Amino acid sequence: MMVKKRILTGDRPTGPLHLGHYVGSLVNRVKLQHEYDEFIIIADVQALTTNFDHPEKLSEDVYNVCLDYLACGIDPNLTTIFIQSHIPEIAELTIYYSMLVPISLLRYNPTIKTEAKQYGYDAKGMTYGFLGYPVSQAADITFCQAHLVPVGADQVPHIELTRKIVRRFNELYRSVLIEPEALVGDIPRLAGLDGNAKMSKSLGNCIYLSDSPEIVTKRVNMAVTDPARIHSKDPGHPEVCNVFAYQKAFNPKFSQELEENCRAGKIGCVPCKKTLIAAVNELLEPLRARRKKYEADKDTINQILIQGTKRAQEEAKKTIALVRDAMKINYFK
Ligand code: TRP
Repeated sequence: MMVKKRILTGDRPTGPLHLGHYVGSLVNRVKLQHEYDEFIIIADVQALTTNFDHPEKLSEDVYNVCLDYLACGIDPNLTTIFIQSHIPEIAELTIYYSMLVPISLLRYNPTIKTEAKQYGYDAKGMTYGFLGYPVSQAADITFCQAHLVPVGADQVPHIELTRKIVRRFNELYRSVLIEPEALVGDIPRLAGLDGNAKMSKSLGNCIYLSDSPEIVTKRVNMAVTDPARIHSKDPGHPEVCNVFAYQKAFNPKFSQELEENCRAGKIGCVPCKKTLIAAVNELLEPLRARRKKYEADKDTINQILIQGTKRAQEEAKKTIALVRDAMKINYFK
């Protein structure tokens, strides 16, 4: 039998997953789990890099992210879902790798720069943990010797760093680590329903996978459309319309027809939104059904996390043995 290649990807547990996560990565993960040996990391330590002052939220977020995965159709028999903080080898690898990373490489990492701005961290107040999280992410990816890392474009600098670390390590000590590749989806990022590029709970501009049909209706009805369109018979401009971007993602079969009718002023925003609401609810229906099944059974979710973490720990032990041998820090062997 051919051995399947390994995938590692994951999320910070900082709140419920939304439609942007779904089209951007979750659908892909559900598909890839059949072809690859898939690992999904719930990166709770990485969440602490910005949420260290309220760790009490983590356990609920870890649980809910796992529930979101299962609702999407991630199958725990095919995919290993595990918790970062419970793999101590990740912390150990992070320390070894940190010797190989010049600080300048972290300071100029574009994703770190964007996030620092977003959280209001300046060079003086920025923590060692935040600045260094891409090193820890390299440990997330390499502890299980992943070949492929499906991620959004914002994560590419971190995968590049991982590759650099792996090359340096293999060259300096012994070639034991697999150099991973990023697999970047080609789906354009969905903006918030209010047109704001960032989807966030406080802005109320996104649809969560756990939202009810009523909330979906409410959110879509509140969505901002082409501002030049005052009357329903005015010709519309789908290229600037937020709802149209959603139509393309969730109503692909009708999006061309909707586009033509919108341009011709033949369909108003209200009926257009109605078709989107129907499409999103149809998409979410099977997710809701799976969620209901798992929600009633907290024990099963805990077992899935425990078993997944156990499997990840086994992989971590193998890798750390290779790493220590390569670095000659296996004194009593
Ligand atoms: N940094 C990723 C994010 O914010 C989450 C993450 C942590 C991750 N470790 C990873 C993604 C390893 C891919 C591989 O979305």
